[in-house]
Amino acid sequence: MSRFNQKIVVNLGDRSYPVYVGEQLVRDLAQHIPSDVGKVAIVTQESVGILPELEIPSAVVYMGSGEHAKSLDTIAMLCSRFASMGMNRRDMVVAIGGGVVSDTAGFAAASFHRGIRYGTVATTLLSQVDAAIGGKTGVNLPEGKNLVGAFWQPSFVICDISSLDSLPQREYLCGLGEMAKYAFLGAEGLEKLPLVEQVAMCVNIKAQFVEDDEREGDKRALLNYGHTLAHAIEALGFEDSRLDFRHGEAVAIGLIFAAKLAHRMGRISSQRVLDHYRVVESYGLPSRLPVKVEPDLVIGVMSKDKKSFGTLTFVLDSPSGVEVVRDIDVDLVREVLVEFMDGLSG
Ligand code: GLY
Repeated sequence: MSRFNQKIVVNLGDRSYPVYVGEQLVRDLAQHIPSDVGKVAIVTQESVGILPELEIPSAVVYMGSGEHAKSLDTIAMLCSRFASMGMNRRDMVVAIGGGVVSDTAGFAAASFHRGIRYGTVATTLLSQVDAAIGGKTGVNLPEGKNLVGAFWQPSFVICDISSLDSLPQREYLCGLGEMAKYAFLGAEGLEKLPLVEQVAMCVNIKAQFVEDDEREGDKRALLNYGHTLAHAIEALGFEDSRLDFRHGEAVAIGLIFAAKLAHRMGRISSQRVLDHYRVVESYGLPSRLPVKVEPDLVIGVMSKDKKSFGTLTFVLDSPSGVEVVRDIDVDLVREVLVEFMDGLSG
């Protein structure tokens, strides 16, 4: 039986690029490096453990792990290494790893010599279905996540499902959380497909969103379905160890909450809310908070201003698909939050 292998093109005019989804694809990396590239800097982390052989001169540059490594210090380190390798505008960066690596290496590539080419080998499920596609590169500041960055599209992306075999279970679950949102962005029945086809379907959908709205004017923001509550859970989790959720797990809880809010606003049926539970639970993801949290604390983070008691913005489902809904009454959100946490201890 032949292996599933799909090439999906992100059509952006002269910045178009292919995304390859399949198995055992890393060994073909060399053939995706353009023939005019003189040198390659492979940016990765020690824990990734994938180092393909290239026929042209190359060097491996290791960066740290975790969100704190996604920093301007790492950008400075990477650009210094590129300079000491004598890299110029014809050369290329290849990021091998998850979103932390591709975001950081991509931004270093966007900045070095005012922009050189980069390609990505996405080794986590989260990066395969989201972070590696679409050219959002950047790093964190102490003041917040992804505050410095650039839209800089890669030359190619490789999503090799075989690299997921060694992914820790929690990381894998995190990717499933981002995957679950696509079931409500046009990928009906997603969860019933083999994993490799699920990844390809998510990449196809993400490519369409990026093609329609590369710089997140409006439509691309719909990719943040489930993220309003998720970001609040993640932010509160820094202070409250009972909310120790990874991004994708928090997105799963955020999807359920968004469905309940949409139902309460008369936008979707109770059957559609159950569809959200079905998808989230079929992936083994959490569908509720583990403990009660002060609703106004959550609302304060969601409105990004503790003093703001005006209105809130959510991505919400409707019979014609998800939409950005602004000016949602805070009292209504509070009521739905209280119901959502009903019966929990805390
Ligand atoms: N992760 C959302 C986006 O790429 O727009």
